[in-house]
Amino acid sequence: MLSSEVKEFIKKSLIKGEVVCLTGAGVSLESGIPVFRGKGGLWERYDPQIYGYPEGLTALFKTTPKRVIDFIVDFYNSILNSKPNPVHRILSLLERQGILKSIITQNIDNLHQESGSRNVIELHGNAYRIRCSECFNKFTLEKERLKEFIRLLKKYRSQRIKLLKILARYFPRCSCGGRFRIDIVLFGENLSESTLLEAYRQLDNCKTLIVLGTSLAVYPAANLPFYAKERGAKIIVINPEITNFSDYCDYQIRAEAGKAMLEIFKCLTIQDHA
Ligand code: APR
Repeated sequence: MLSSEVKEFIKKSLIKGEVVCLTGAGVSLESGIPVFRGKGGLWERYDPQIYGYPEGLTALFKTTPKRVIDFIVDFYNSILNSKPNPVHRILSLLERQGILKSIITQNIDNLHQESGSRNVIELHGNAYRIRCSECFNKFTLEKERLKEFIRLLKKYRSQRIKLLKILARYFPRCSCGGRFRIDIVLFGENLSESTLLEAYRQLDNCKTLIVLGTSLAVYPAANLPFYAKERGAKIIVINPEITNFSDYCDYQIRAEAGKAMLEIFKCLTIQDHA
């Protein structure tokens, strides 16, 4: 699957470190979490113009709360029942070996961290965290507590008053008076400035950027490969499909993340023993 040119590049360059990986939903597909766009994607089943925006969700909740709850339950169940897959594990191993400097991810599923990766920059937040909408105070929720929350939402999905009580219980007021909400970034919302700055900082001295399992359809994440390339990094895109960066990358591997990362890992391991 890897051309001899790509293998040669990987053996020469990746082993030297200063490698960063930008990941997207394609990485967690093998863990049972659907991608957003394309065949089988979440946005095929739920209109992103409604379900992707805070205003859309709020308006829909007012008329038909059940539809919002069905979406949340569907989305959260796939995350809560997922486990890291070989791609997550290979990336965490590469970090431990000093090859991978960091992962910049658009995923909110926490699977990079669960597989042992330490330097993970979460551009779009984390599904297990809540933040105060006023002072940005943050807390992590236990998986079991979130599961219980989702079970309750499902049980009372058509009972508006009961739902509001459940939401108030799990998303209480902060000591500053603000209301807690899930710490994820929806369409139209700003990314955390410090997180984005950290992502750029990681790319400043990056020699190789692996763009893995993302359509690069969403900004500012989609700018990051351009930023890295302008600073001299070589870019490898791994995706079964053509992406928005395919014309600009140095190497394109048209394959599933699992197969491609295993090949890359073998390439590096063989060099280790040579
Ligand atoms: N291995 C690698 N890539 C895959 C695989 C696979 N097995 N299967 C699908 N893909 C690719 C698809 O070809 C697609 O390019 O994964 C990509 C997934 O793209 P999106 O669904 O657009 O996901 P992502 O790029 O992470 O989306 C970015 O959009 O809706 C928002 O906030 C959401 O973080 C998300 C952002």
